[in-house]
Amino acid sequence: MKNLAALLLCCAVSAQAAPFAEGDPQAGKKLFDQYDCNSCHKDKVGGDGNAIFTRSDRKVTSPQKMIERMTMCSGAIGKKLSKQEQQHLGAYLNQSFYKLK
Ligand code: HEC
Repeated sequence: MKNLAALLLCCAVSAQAAPFAEGDPQAGKKLFDQYDCNSCHKDKVGGDGNAIFTRSDRKVTSPQKMIERMTMCSGAIGKKLSKQEQQHLGAYLNQSFYKLK
C-alpha cells in the first residue's frame, strides 16, 4: 500500500512539473543582481527595468524561449550561464513575472 501511494505521488508530481523546477527563485534573484541583468533593460523600458518582462508584446512565451533569450542577453556581456544558473534565473523570472506553465 505504501509503495502504491509513493508511486501515485511521484506521478502526480512529475505530471505537473513546473518549468525551471530545478531552479531556486531566490538564487535566481541573486544572480540577476550579480550580473546586473537590468542594466540594459533599464535603458530600454525605464524604471528599474523589470517592465521588459511584463510588456504587452513581450518576447518570451515559453520556457524554451526564456532560455534562448537569457543566453543571448548574457552573451552580450560576455557571460556564459551554466545550466544551473539558467534554471535559477528562469525560476526567478517565471515566479516573479512570466508565470509560464
Ligand atoms: C547587453 C544588454 C543586456 C543585458 C546585460 C541583459 N539583457 Fe536581457 N534583454 C536585452 C534587450 C535589448 C532585450 C529586448 C530584446 C527585444 O526587445 O527583442 C532583452 C530582453 C530580455 C528578456 C525578454 C523580455 C521579453 O520580451 O519577454 C529576458 C527574459 C531577458 N532579457 C533576460 C535577461 C537576463 C536574465 C539577463 C542577465 C543574465 C539579461 N537579460 C541581461 C539586453 C540585455
